[in-house]
Amino acid sequence: MNETSLRVRAEIDLAALRANVRALRARAPRAEFMAVVKADAYGHGMLPCARAALQAGASWVGTATPEEALALRAAGIGPEQARVLCWLWTPGGPWREAIEADIEASVSGMWALREVTAAARALGRTARVQLKADTGLGRNGCQPADWAELVEAALKAEAEGSVKVTGIWSHYACADEPGHPSIAAQTAAFERALGYAETAGLRPEVRHIANSPATLTLAESHYDLVRPGIAMYGVSPSPEVGVPEDFGLRPVMTLEASLALVKHVPAGHGVSYGHHFVTPGDTTLGLVPVGYGDGLPRHASGRGPVLVGGKLRTAAGRIAMDQFVVDLGGDEPRVGESAVLFGPGDRGEPTAEDWARAAGTIAYEIVTRIGSRVPRVYVNERAEG
Ligand SMILES: Cc1ncc(COP(=O)(O)O)c(C=O)c1O
Repeated sequence: MNETSLRVRAEIDLAALRANVRALRARAPRAEFMAVVKADAYGHGMLPCARAALQAGASWVGTATPEEALALRAAGIGPEQARVLCWLWTPGGPWREAIEADIEASVSGMWALREVTAAARALGRTARVQLKADTGLGRNGCQPADWAELVEAALKAEAEGSVKVTGIWSHYACADEPGHPSIAAQTAAFERALGYAETAGLRPEVRHIANSPATLTLAESHYDLVRPGIAMYGVSPSPEVGVPEDFGLRPVMTLEASLALVKHVPAGHGVSYGHHFVTPGDTTLGLVPVGYGDGLPRHASGRGPVLVGGKLRTAAGRIAMDQFVVDLGGDEPRVGESAVLFGPGDRGEPTAEDWARAAGTIAYEIVTRIGSRVPRVYVNERAEG
């Protein structure tokens, strides 16, 4: 670590992110690319990651909340640089601000179509919307039984000029389990939703359903646009899909801390709250100044891995709010020595997937939950060539 004064930092390698975008685009060469940057780009930092993805050929940016979408525009990512789709709306919008900022709004039901149409009328502008079909995920999206009503209402709003339906889209439930029967069933349901809408007269510019696992494993899901999130950050959607290297992807985030203390302790010494670890013999302990207050999962207590002085160690006892302890087995690294919690894995350090396994969760959650107390340090910001 160059900046030894930093307690902990998340290094974000934007060259890796750009290379990941290019690798993903190569898998879906005929589709446009939407960089999914919700939740602060899965913890990596929304603006630098959105900009890097656009440099590497993304033409769309996807967010969950309108606040995220508006922040992209406010930061200067204009309509000429990126189309922005935002998909998690609640009554009240903010529809007017979104229309004014050229943000495309996902519509999953009649209430949203009514609200966005009213806002467009009041502004005297055309709102660009994308109709979302629930093809089987059972989360957001319009049920097949309600699709005809939504399509008819969208056609009416198009006829009066308050709305333009720019896209029709959906989302898979189990694309991270290749071969899962729901995948083909959802693709078929998507085809039916598209067929109905197009026969009724809608002419969407983009049809899309592919998240990372579908982009990586399912060419027939690519349609006009792919929407990868996690793979862009170099993390595999699931062990069943494969490891990042299988797809030429490289993890973008490295979480590295500086040891805050190294000390000798005798055998039988309890370690951390609850004394769930007791030293089996005389040993040295290292204090890693990162805890659940920084987004580390407390569930990984006793299991979370960390690379110290070239050796893999394990969180000894409980992970506390700000710190945890590793048993260094008599080694005496200096205070300030690097402790790498996760990274790409090619220096022997653990990966976010290893932490996910240790905590009984998914790697998405590991990177996304790294908190605001951890500074992001961007490297390779300038696109080469
Ligand atoms: C609607 C939608 N599209 C795309 C994505 C990207 O998914 P992934 O990170 O699995 O690529 C998400 C993330 O959950 C999403 O909610």
